[in-house]
Amino acid sequence: MLMRMLRSLLGGTAATDGAAVAAHYPVEDTRRRMRLFENAPVDAHLDILFRDCRIGGLEFLPVYRACVDRSDTHVSAWKSFIRVQSALNLAHYFLHALDIPGRRIECGVFRGFSALLVCEVARAVRGYDGDGLHLVDSFAGFPAPRDEDFIPLRNRELAVKGPAFRAGDGAAPENHVRAVLGNFPRVTIHHGWIPEVYGALPDGAWSFVHIDVDLYEPTLASLEHFFPRMNTGGVIVCDDYGSALFPGAHLAWDAFCEARNLPFVVLETGQAVLLKS
Ligand SMILES: C[S@@+](CC[C@H](N)C(=O)[O-])C[C@H]1O[C@@H](n2cnc3c(N)ncnc32)[C@H](O)[C@@H]1O
Repeated sequence: MLMRMLRSLLGGTAATDGAAVAAHYPVEDTRRRMRLFENAPVDAHLDILFRDCRIGGLEFLPVYRACVDRSDTHVSAWKSFIRVQSALNLAHYFLHALDIPGRRIECGVFRGFSALLVCEVARAVRGYDGDGLHLVDSFAGFPAPRDEDFIPLRNRELAVKGPAFRAGDGAAPENHVRAVLGNFPRVTIHHGWIPEVYGALPDGAWSFVHIDVDLYEPTLASLEHFFPRMNTGGVIVCDDYGSALFPGAHLAWDAFCEARNLPFVVLETGQAVLLKS
């Protein structure tokens, strides 16, 4: 029984002869979890878990739900739990960084959910109006992945390696993001590919960097660009460190931090966080 539960949790499968087979196919694991959670009353679970959750006195769950609606980024039930917690963590770090001199940036915006969420929380708690927040995205989705982004896949019964998503997946219209952030006209949106687009950013120091680009190359390029420009106490959050679908983010973060002997933490959500000392 316990083995069956563990196999189910870890996404392993049972071979026909009953022996355990260590199968780690993240896309299949994700699909299985999506199916398992499909008919569960996820909103009721979220209410139970998060209804007493406040940030700076503000009730968090209604703000989270409003931002999901406004950005039109509803996710599968399976993803909901980690997403609420990740958003809450991100908002805490954003509020913290407001007291540190420097600009703020999100690298990887998609439809504007996480940018809107930190703005709404900061406005309610601190009267924040979007000042000094920069948002960067290709708005054309992902660039071509490299080997570091490849995961084990199954093509019928043949095990192969490849990316979870292809170049161009994850595209979103820039106008949608402009509309979503419409109540924060001081936010600056930069349309372009990382790292070239960083050449258009203003000079000066940064206090908050949210890296949410999923892949190896833009994650590494973002760390290389912003880390030397961070003020002391500044925060860098990498959303994808723990993602089984996007190993490149984790490999890039480790390569960068290990080469410089930088200490960091990994939260239960899989977010990696570094405070510049
Ligand atoms: C996971 S989504 C961001 C989600 C968003 N932070 C949120 O939580 O609402 C990743 C985004 O990174 C962008 N992206 C990935 N690689 C990029 C690159 N090299 N240059 C610019 N944008 C990139 C994609 O276009 C996509 O919108």
